[in-house]
Formats: sequence, C-alpha cells, structure tokens
Amino acid sequence: MLNPFDIVIFGGGGDLALRKLLPAMYRAYQEGNLPEGSRVLPTVRAEEQKEQYLATAEQALQSHLSEGEFNAKDWQAFAQFLVPVVVNVTEADDNWDALKDILDADGEEKSRVFYLSLPPAVYGTCCELLSQKGLITDNSRVVVEKPIGYCGKSAEEINGKIAQFFDENQIFRIDHYLGKETVQNLMALRFANALFENLWDAKSIDNIQISISETVGLESRAGFYDKAGALRDMVQNHLLQLLCLVAMESPSKLNANSIRAEKLKVLEALRPLVGEDVDDNVVRGQYVPGDLNGKLVPGYLEELGEGSSTTETFVAIRAHIDNWRWAGVPFYLRTGKRMKKRCAEIVVEYKPVSHNVYGPSVGPIQPNRLEIRLQPEESIQLTLMSKRLDNLEMQLEPVTLNIELSQQYSKGFHSDAYKRLMLDAAANNPALFIHRDEVREAWQWIDPIIARWQEKGTPSLYRAGSWGPEAADELLEENNHAWFNVGEK
Ligand code: BG6
Repeated sequence: MLNPFDIVIFGGGGDLALRKLLPAMYRAYQEGNLPEGSRVLPTVRAEEQKEQYLATAEQALQSHLSEGEFNAKDWQAFAQFLVPVVVNVTEADDNWDALKDILDADGEEKSRVFYLSLPPAVYGTCCELLSQKGLITDNSRVVVEKPIGYCGKSAEEINGKIAQFFDENQIFRIDHYLGKETVQNLMALRFANALFENLWDAKSIDNIQISISETVGLESRAGFYDKAGALRDMVQNHLLQLLCLVAMESPSKLNANSIRAEKLKVLEALRPLVGEDVDDNVVRGQYVPGDLNGKLVPGYLEELGEGSSTTETFVAIRAHIDNWRWAGVPFYLRTGKRMKKRCAEIVVEYKPVSHNVYGPSVGPIQPNRLEIRLQPEESIQLTLMSKRLDNLEMQLEPVTLNIELSQQYSKGFHSDAYKRLMLDAAANNPALFIHRDEVREAWQWIDPIIARWQEKGTPSLYRAGSWGPEAADELLEENNHAWFNVGEK
C-alpha cells in the first residue's frame, strides 16, 4: 500500500480538475487506494471559491462519475481528504506561505505532488514560486499536462524553465493515454506472449493502423483548440505514444528508463515528413455540418462562431519507421473529432499466405488481422481463416476470436487513467510518464508538418458523422489498403 501523500492541484476549480482529477481521487478512495492521512489540495483564486469548494466538488462528482459510483457516504468520507486553498499562481503573495505551512505541518518526508492543471504558459512561473517560497522538498514531484508547448521550440523553453526548479526525475509529464489499462495491456500482449512477439515485424506484418476517433466536437474549448488543432492535441502525444508502444523493442526491464529508452528509439527512427512528403502522406480535415447518429450537428466553423479557420479537426498520416524491424511497413495514424463512432483501436494486418494451396475456387484468403480495441469497450480480436463446417465443400471464411476484456474483469474496479497516473506520481513511479527527450523528438517530427501547412493548402472538408475526408481513404488506397472502421467490416 502506498504511503500517505499530499497532492496539490493547481487550477483546482478548472475543467480538468473537476471533470477528471477529483473523480480519479474519489475512485482511489472508494477502492481503498487513497491512504489515510493523504490530502488533496485543490487551489482556487478567491476566498469565496474556497468556501464553496466542497459544494462545487460534490456537484462535479455527481455529474462526472459513472452511474452508481457516487454515494453520500463515500462522498462524506472523501470530503475529509479535500483541503481547498487559495493561491494565485502568478503572484508571489502570502497565500504561498500559508500553503507551505499546511504542507510542512505533515513534515518534509511526506510525498508532495504538485499537479499543474494550468495553461503551459504559467508552468514556469508556478514552478519558480514553488521554489522561491520553499515548497519543493526532496520528496516532491511536479506533474505537467500536455500539450507541452506549441512547437519544438516552445516545448524546450517550457521544459527548460521547469528544469531550473525540478530534476528530470521529479518531472512527471502526463499523457493520460498511457494510464489506460488497455494501453498497458498492449505491452503485456506483446511481451508476455511468444505467439505475437515472434510475428511482430516486417516479415509478417503488412500494415498497422492506429485510430482514435471521437464523436465530440469543440466542447467548450474553442480558445485552446482553434490554436492547437488535432495534430498538436492528439498526434504529437497520444497517437505517437501508442505508436511507440506498438513498435518498440522489448525493454530489458519494466522500469521507466528502459521503457522510455525504447520509445525514444522509435521516435528517432520515424521517417521525417518534410515539404512535399507532407502533401503526399498527411491529410488534414475539418468537419462541416452533418448527421451524427440521427442528429444534425453543426460544423466546426459554426461551433467556433468564426467565418474562417484552417484549424484541422482530423489528421491521417502514413508514417514509416526506418529500422530493421519495420522497414517498409506503413503505419497509418488517424484521429478526428465528430466522426461516426467513438473508438480507439490498433489494427495489425498480417501479410497474406505465401501460396494459396486451395486455388481460386475457395474464394480469397483474407490475411489475419489482430484488433486491439482500447475504447469504448476493451477487447482483443483475432481474425483467422477457417473451413466452413456445414457442408462437404472446401469453403473458407474468416472467423474471429474475441476476448472481451471488460467483461472478464472490472467488478468493483473502475479503470481510470488519471487515477492510475496520479497514484503513480504519488508513489514516485515515472514509468508511464514522458521523458523530456521524447517530447523533443515528437515535436521534431511534428514541426515540419505544421510548417508545410502554414505554407500551403487548406483542410479537406468532411461531414460530421462520417469517417473523415475522402482524401484519407485515398491515402490508403494508394497502397491497396483500407481503413478498418469499427462496426463496418
Ligand atoms: C485530450 C484531448 O488529451 O484527449 C481532447 O485534448 C480529447 O481533445 C481527449 O477529446 C480524448 O481522450 P479520451 O480518453 O476521451 O479518448
């Protein structure tokens, strides 16, 4: 069991804190993973907000927990862990001293986690004040949210500033996809099963698709999103992290250094997409009004309330990893808002058999396919060719082995990426957090794509409720491939 810890949530009244971080801590409490003596200290800007905080938190939990998770008894008990405090992160006033007194009251040995649920522009100032006011102990860590920066240069600046006050091993850069239980299962599938690992390279695999499709649109994040776009919001971090886990070599140990070193090698081996390569291998899209599950939803520009914007809400990329294992295998990455279904999935398509002994009369032999679905439901499906058993003819057809992971487990356990990552930060376990070098490499790959877009072209349009622009389908057709769209096979 974890030792008691304090977690200060800067930006405690913000959307992320109320929607994700408090529910995560509440779940940790319900499962018995929030040790007695721990404290959750959300910061707010004014005394009045502090007084109302418990009511705000209760309401947030009621709206953001899943059905049946909230109950008055657990809430009363969890509320005892909550210690709201007033801090203005950009002002060096006495509130910092008050926060220090609260933390120091439990001694310097206790784990302190400073969770910066703040705009990245103030990370530096907040860390500086933490240091100046003497709040950083040897047992302190800082958690920073993505996106770190807006490009490689700004990311380096932010990382450089944080590094003035915290050592790299105290900096926990969060990518909540790495906290999803199924994402970790991806490593288990690869590294605990000889079956897959021996067939995990260019000799056996034809192509790999990694898709994160969402049905939500802009939500209430127009200010952030229109400046960021899907490439920075989803590809630079979540999709590239999934790509790393799929493509990396086996780490020698399951510790942070080994895992991060292997992920970094994948990022370093990504073939750069520069200039015309971007035109040929990257599709950007933006949604226009359309029918999403029987409901007419507005287009991006209508949601934004602006007449024009070239921000992409969809990206599809054909990427290559130039190393021995993956030479010649296309990795297709795709993400978009307002798409037909919400789904995050990795599809591994194997090569066809080298020779069809059955001849053309049995019909085509479909290559094997492994689908690892991360959400909404968590499952692994393996499609194989099999003989039909209901007649004397030799007729082959694909059959699917389906492992519904969510049905096998989950009683009394709510898989929650933020819960897992916050507890890992409290336990000083950085294995599922991102190293500075990974951030740098990921931006190095992304920056030239953005540069090209700034020079040339506009997004292709796609209807809300569709699977993205036609250009994304054409990208795969060029290689005789097609997207696997969940529910449409
Ligand atoms: C966030 C992005 O990091 O991930 C959002 O900023 C996106 O735009 C979200 O909606 C998706 O996360 P999940 O866990 O719902 O797939």
